[in-house]
Amino acid sequence: MSGSLSGRRALVTGGASGIGRAIGIALAREGAAVAIADKAPAEATADLAGRIAAAGGQAFALPQTDVSDERQVLEMMQAATARLHRLDILVNNAGILIEKPLLETTAADFDRLIGVNLRGVFLVGREAIRRMLDTGGGRIINLASELAYLGRERCSIYCASKGGVLSMTRSWAREFAPTIRVNALAPGPTDTAMLGAESTAPETLAKESQNPLGRIARPEEIAEAAVFLAGPGATFMTGQCLSPNGGAAMF
Ligand SMILES: NC(=O)c1ccc[n+]([C@@H]2O[C@H](COP(=O)([O-])OP(=O)(O)OC[C@H]3O[C@@H](n4cnc5c(N)ncnc54)[C@H](O)[C@@H]3O)[C@@H](O)[C@H]2O)c1
Repeated sequence: MSGSLSGRRALVTGGASGIGRAIGIALAREGAAVAIADKAPAEATADLAGRIAAAGGQAFALPQTDVSDERQVLEMMQAATARLHRLDILVNNAGILIEKPLLETTAADFDRLIGVNLRGVFLVGREAIRRMLDTGGGRIINLASELAYLGRERCSIYCASKGGVLSMTRSWAREFAPTIRVNALAPGPTDTAMLGAESTAPETLAKESQNPLGRIARPEEIAEAAVFLAGPGATFMTGQCLSPNGGAAMF
């Protein structure tokens, strides 16, 4: 496929579903070869790789990789670069949400959430940066959330993890400029499994749609912002955060 990312090699974590899946499809549509890493079983990642291939794109699956596990990340990065030969684009997308009142939140909840959302971004980012420095450059897109800015009841550890992602993004942008551009996305509520099985219930939609555009996002709308940050239109952007959030938070 030819497009704005023709010839680029990309890795998307948490790419088996939701926003990561939409980003994988959009990067492949633009011509990138895409590695889809996820902790999900092989069928989920293979399904997406097959769909991309059927549409004329290039993709392969790296299933059963937990981004919070250093050994698994090292093995996944080796497998990814063995297939891709180099890495031009990393989308650090894998994330989890634990929604609980603070007073019921356990230390184990904290460790699990920070393990995936922050340690995972650190581990995969560090290994990607090693490879990008070796090959002369790259783009990193880290998934934060509008909740990093807004905060939310029953979600303080999630919000803190996303605030950490924004800080790491800015610091990496400074540390690795001009070779590697590092930016973040801070989406508003998006129609994925993360919103929960109740995401299509009218009361959930009404609550989540309290923004000037009056609705939640489709994963494909977040993916277009990722394509922009990965592509030729974003050459003067680093350390920035794009906020496809329907206007819920304005900067
Ligand atoms: N959906 C939203 O409303 C929303 C809003 C703002 C930000 N985000 C962020 O966008 C990213 C994607 O979220 P989503 O809504 O698509 O969620 P999702 O639950 O639909 O998909 C997350 C994917 O990450 C994978 N994953 C989870 N833990 C993992 C781990 N330890 N290692 C590897 N893969 C793992 C899951 O298997 C799944 O495929 C997350 O970082 C999330 O915090 C989501």
